[in-house]
Amino acid sequence: MQSILLHAPLLPWPVNWDEVYGRTAPILVEIGFGSGHFLIDWARQRPDANVLGLEISLPSLRKGESKIRNTGLTNVRVVQGGAPLVLQALFAPASLSEVFINFPDPWRKERHYHRRLISDEFLNLLATRLSPGGLLDIATDHPDYAPWITERLERTPYFASRLPTTFVTEDNERLRTKYELIALEEGRTCHYFKWRRNAETAVNPFPIPEELPMPHIIMSSPLSLAEIGQRFEPQHTSDGETHVKLLEMYQSFYDQKLLVETYVREEPLTQRVGLSVFRRQTGELVVGLHDVGFPRPTRGIQLAIAHLAQWILGLHPDSTVIANNLSNAIWET
Ligand SMILES: C[S@@+](CC[C@H](N)C(=O)[O-])C[C@H]1O[C@@H](n2cnc3c(N)ncnc32)[C@H](O)[C@@H]1O
Repeated sequence: MQSILLHAPLLPWPVNWDEVYGRTAPILVEIGFGSGHFLIDWARQRPDANVLGLEISLPSLRKGESKIRNTGLTNVRVVQGGAPLVLQALFAPASLSEVFINFPDPWRKERHYHRRLISDEFLNLLATRLSPGGLLDIATDHPDYAPWITERLERTPYFASRLPTTFVTEDNERLRTKYELIALEEGRTCHYFKWRRNAETAVNPFPIPEELPMPHIIMSSPLSLAEIGQRFEPQHTSDGETHVKLLEMYQSFYDQKLLVETYVREEPLTQRVGLSVFRRQTGELVVGLHDVGFPRPTRGIQLAIAHLAQWILGLHPDSTVIANNLSNAIWET
């Protein structure tokens, strides 16, 4: 049976979408598909295309998966993950033909405006993933979000309206979403933005994040694992772009191994991982990445491991590093 629900944390960067759908076809994406009505109608209307729905809500994903299975459609999948990370990590540049964002959450309070999906940065990211001439459609029924979207679309250098105006408030051609039908029934005005990617090259290419080999550092230290654990204090490091916090250290009763709860933020990714420190039978300490929770061995993880190893080195003057497989740029900073 084909997999309809895909989990972003387990997918390669970028995904080979031809393999996922078993054919090469234009890729159409709906961001925040909610009930899935529009997504399914779209896939039905466009048998020529590979259709993908993005969602962060697990109940919506499960319901969407089951509805799609019941339709028997083979050209639609759903992926669990937030749009900024999914777009940047899972799609090659210029690989999308059409993107629909139907009724994104308006985040009504001013102090929550920074959570709004439509931002200058997000439009720039979309510009890198849509192919030239690719279509971007956005709809909202929210009276404050409509001018917000208008302002950002009108100032982006990467898109142009397909209409003589920035938006229209009626569009009888389009497929409707569940949320839209309720809004219309309740008498709210919907704003429809129908835009197109132009040929302008995006300044920020939003590179696909890179996965590196599983990192490790081999060191010697006269300290026992328990002595290292007793000296631990929460700590933070940053190289400006990446932020690492070593939050807590735990020790195994079974084999004395140390596990360091670690937070790594490197746009567009945030990971909560465990770093491990254990002693080999031959006596060396190994600092590495624990594989619980499918961590992605990125540059930020290397930075975290380098920081932890440097801290252990600083605990005793007779500690030394024997070998490591980190990139030179990280280990030498
Ligand atoms: C107001 S609802 C609209 C649902 C649907 N598009 C409709 O019109 O009926 C917004 C949807 O976007 C989803 N969402 C919010 N932020 C998201 C993100 N960063 N990536 C993907 N989906 C997101 C929410 O879970 C929710 O289902």
